[in-house]
Amino acid sequence: MGEIVRLQKYIAMCGTASRRNAEVMIQNGRVSVNGKRIKEMGVKVEIGADKVSVDGREIKIPQKKYYIMLNKPVGYVSAVTDQFERPTVVDLVKNDIHTRIFPVGRLDYNTEGLLLLTNDGDFSYRVTHPKFRVSKTYIAMLKGGITVSGLQKLRRGVKLDDGFSVSPAKVEIISAENGHVAAEVIIHEGHNRQVRRMFEAVGSEVKELKRVKIGKIELGNLPLGRWRHLTSHEVNYLMNV
Ligand code: URA
Repeated sequence: MGEIVRLQKYIAMCGTASRRNAEVMIQNGRVSVNGKRIKEMGVKVEIGADKVSVDGREIKIPQKKYYIMLNKPVGYVSAVTDQFERPTVVDLVKNDIHTRIFPVGRLDYNTEGLLLLTNDGDFSYRVTHPKFRVSKTYIAMLKGGITVSGLQKLRRGVKLDDGFSVSPAKVEIISAENGHVAAEVIIHEGHNRQVRRMFEAVGSEVKELKRVKIGKIELGNLPLGRWRHLTSHEVNYLMNV
């Protein structure tokens, strides 16, 4: 159940008028609750349940928006809750953030790195929908390396095991020592386990995967399992990429 407040307080919380002016609005018959005009004082409403209108237009309490960057560890599910009761990424922030937030896209259970969380649906849409072409940069540690033709295929775009053709990826080998090959991979789409499945499609295996960048927003040295608020500059940038 939501908090119950006096009608004039609710109107003030919406930023429509001061409490005093809200009382005048009520007396003048400009306010209705759940479609019923209210003219007397003393009426209370439940936040989130009752629908309040002024001059026929619904008013709502503006919700504070959260934009969070988390360094997700392996072993956490990118969801609000998990049907198997495994720990979720929201568990890592919920002691500090007391509103419902959700992950922006997903990192799979075995992948770590940069994950955004928000309560702003528009923001999530802008960052995840491929039409906005927000790049996602990963570092993939490969088991046994990759062939030259495998690299070329990834750069042209491969077909995944379910028949889906992904767009060309930017792939560069960034280190190769003692049989450990690390590749930087940049994609704009977000199919389930896409990077791992792209490498599988060319006969390679990803041993470890980490997302380090979304657009030009970098994970930097945020410790594993820790989070921070995005700056307003970072939010504006992602909203307008
Ligand atoms: N690609 C993957 O394979 N896993 C992720 O979590 C993200 C991209």
